[in-house]
Amino acid sequence: MAQQGKKDRTVATHAGSHPHEHQGVVNPPVYRASTVLFRSVQDLRERYRHKYETVTYGRDGTQTHRLLAEAFTALEGSERAIILPSGVAAVSTALLISLSPGDSLLMVDSAYEPTREICDGLLARIGVETTYYDPMIGAGIAGLIRPNTKAIYLESPGSLTFETQDIPAIVAAARQAGCRTILDNTWATPLFFKPPAHGIDIGVYSASKYIGGHSDMMMGILTCPAALHKTAAKMAHGYIGHAVSADDAYNALRGMRTLHARLVQHQETALILARWLADRPEVEQVLHPALPGTPGHEFWRRDYTGASGLFAVVLKPCKPEQVERMLDSMRLFGMGYSWGGFESLMIRADLKTCRTAKPWHAVGRTLRIHAGLEDPEDLIADLEDGLARYRGE
Ligand SMILES: Cc1ncc(COP(=O)(O)O)c(C=O)c1O
Repeated sequence: MAQQGKKDRTVATHAGSHPHEHQGVVNPPVYRASTVLFRSVQDLRERYRHKYETVTYGRDGTQTHRLLAEAFTALEGSERAIILPSGVAAVSTALLISLSPGDSLLMVDSAYEPTREICDGLLARIGVETTYYDPMIGAGIAGLIRPNTKAIYLESPGSLTFETQDIPAIVAAARQAGCRTILDNTWATPLFFKPPAHGIDIGVYSASKYIGGHSDMMMGILTCPAALHKTAAKMAHGYIGHAVSADDAYNALRGMRTLHARLVQHQETALILARWLADRPEVEQVLHPALPGTPGHEFWRRDYTGASGLFAVVLKPCKPEQVERMLDSMRLFGMGYSWGGFESLMIRADLKTCRTAKPWHAVGRTLRIHAGLEDPEDLIADLEDGLARYRGE
């Protein structure tokens, strides 16, 4: 079904759906494959001419992966999407196709920690130098761009500290200097921010989060213009050998159908919890892009159309045992990395060790919270009891 001019909810519900190509069945079949057969030498030649656009071998994906890419690009706005086995695979593929030995990268200081590890480990090993920059640098990024700077990487909001970046100012400076921009847009999803509409060249997503939405699969998605598609697909599937199961691609496409409904609820519950926590005497600061006072809130208001369910709380200075007492007995908030599933989560975040451009300012301990789909009243009751344990009651 053509999606032009339709609203996001409609696109997320119908994009990549072609029931009458599959005997009227609403959802597409799961095409599992390693081997793909060709009718003739001519057919083989023709399909290989359009390798990565057609189906030629299981590692590059089957029709199930193509339909997920079709749905995702319809919602996000990029010309192409590549389906990868994890968000980290999307991050490393985006960096590897943008940088060569001798090049330099500008990386936001608030980036997801494994993204920093790719820079400090893998990229350093192949002779790519990384300079970390203050997430609030805005147009000042121009002062850091050198002749060999080939890419600027953004993660907005930062997934631990939630600064929203001035994306248009950074994109303008990058364009002026001829640098590529890469944005980790996992937090906002294409529903709340569309990278290509803001001039970003490559979007990276951990689809293990809201796209899958059920804490039961790993996936990454890289979005890019058509001109970069072959290079990115060759790097991902051809050189690194990334392959994704068709069952996971199917689950991600199914996740997209409920993305809007889930995100509206995650957004509402997260705001209820964030506002409740902001009024607590134990709390120094709530870091939520939609709350005034969080760095970059004005950019969130200007550029984003919504907020998802992940935010953080900085506690007043306290003893580590107080936080441990709280976390150890939460009933509804599970303690685990990742986020974006249906369930609520809460985890300690140590920010002092993962900042180099600008030391992390807060003295208190930080908790990262994911607001799930439970009733907010039950979640607040769980938080209330947790804070009582924190106080030693
Ligand atoms: C912002 C962000 N980007 C990327 C990733 C990596 O995704 P994955 O765990 O699917 O490799 C994560 C995972 O937590 C993340 O939070």
